[in-house]
Amino acid sequence: MYTKEVMDHFMNPRNVGEIPDADGVGMQGNPVCGDVMKVYIKVKDGRIVDAKFQTFGCGAAIAVSSMITEMVKGKTLEEALKITNKEVAKALGGLPPQKMHCSNLGADALKEAIEQYLAKQKTQ
Ligand code: FES
Ligand code: FES
Repeated sequence: MYTKEVMDHFMNPRNVGEIPDADGVGMQGNPVCGDVMKVYIKVKDGRIVDAKFQTFGCGAAIAVSSMITEMVKGKTLEEALKITNKEVAKALGGLPPQKMHCSNLGADALKEAIEQYLAKQKTQ
């Protein structure tokens, strides 16, 4: 039921782990299933230079996390904020309809990490 890309990112997830000195962290829980995803970003000169994730969830959620952390590296914050759940699912070659809710975690957690970073800038 999963595409090659989903299986690849599920079996060999990229960017798993924590960035201890992250510039922004986002955490989202999925109300549908209770799964949780945490995204860490490192920012330099307005660009995301590194991203990592920890996901306690299903295969689709892990594949989405892996893909989105790959997609954001090198992007400006503005570009990264525009990434949608649908784009991540598309980059994975599609997700089964009953698994689309899993893709929400990725973009939402990323958005939260970026917003946290931006909020920190304002208070400095
Ligand atoms: Fe939680 Fe998918 S229902 S792993
Ligand atoms: Fe929970 Fe996929 S079933 S995120």
